[in-house]
Amino acid sequence: MYFIANWKMYGDIKSLNTLNRVIKFSKSKEINKGRLIYCPPYTLINSFLKKFKNCLIDIGAQNCHENETYGPHTGFINARMLKNIGANYVIIGHSENREKGESNRLINLKIKNAIKAKLKVIFCIGETLKEKRQKKTRQILSKQIKLGLDKIKNKSNIFIAYEPVWAIGTGMIPKTEDLLKTIKFIKSKFKSKSPKILYGGSVNPNNIKNLKKINIIDGFLVGGASQNSKKFIDIVKKTYS
Ligand code: PGA
Repeated sequence: MYFIANWKMYGDIKSLNTLNRVIKFSKSKEINKGRLIYCPPYTLINSFLKKFKNCLIDIGAQNCHENETYGPHTGFINARMLKNIGANYVIIGHSENREKGESNRLINLKIKNAIKAKLKVIFCIGETLKEKRQKKTRQILSKQIKLGLDKIKNKSNIFIAYEPVWAIGTGMIPKTEDLLKTIKFIKSKFKSKSPKILYGGSVNPNNIKNLKKINIIDGFLVGGASQNSKKFIDIVKKTYS
């Protein structure tokens, strides 16, 4: 199981101290088969890499520029740069960025170039509350998958993170039976082997007991709760208990 911490625009040098607990946990038996990946803001990637030097915790970024090559794009960072400093993952298509205008086409370009740069991609999809109410969830997910993964044959380095927009940061999660159906639906979109599927949106130590019942989920993308090491560790522990 994969446990991915999305720190969003939080964290400073002081927060590095809070990771000691996670490092210790990652070396204990309790980690079981859990794999931890931290996606801090760009400014902390290097510090996190140093901090995790002697353990198996991996590092990712939260977005990247769509261009494969370097170029005059003030303020941006591309996949090649991320790989160069030692990141192995990148989150692409997060709803907080879709909201700001990232289209499915742009996301597709980002994914293609991230894969070329040999990064593993955490590709986020999900419907808004309005779309859910209009019963458009499947239609929206199909479109996001079709356009986001257009002309990408080899999907072995892609993880799909199903994150209903209405569940992000709200404390709400889908009903178990609905989530199971949606994950099955996402899997059915792939003829041969489906990419690994993660769930994200308000995952916390209290609701993990329910979420883990859906045994076709390959892991969780955790926002808010991941900034608190104890909570993040509890999520992993409760997944296996
Ligand atoms: P949340 O965020 O866990 O705080 O809801 C998840 C995400 O945005 O990836």
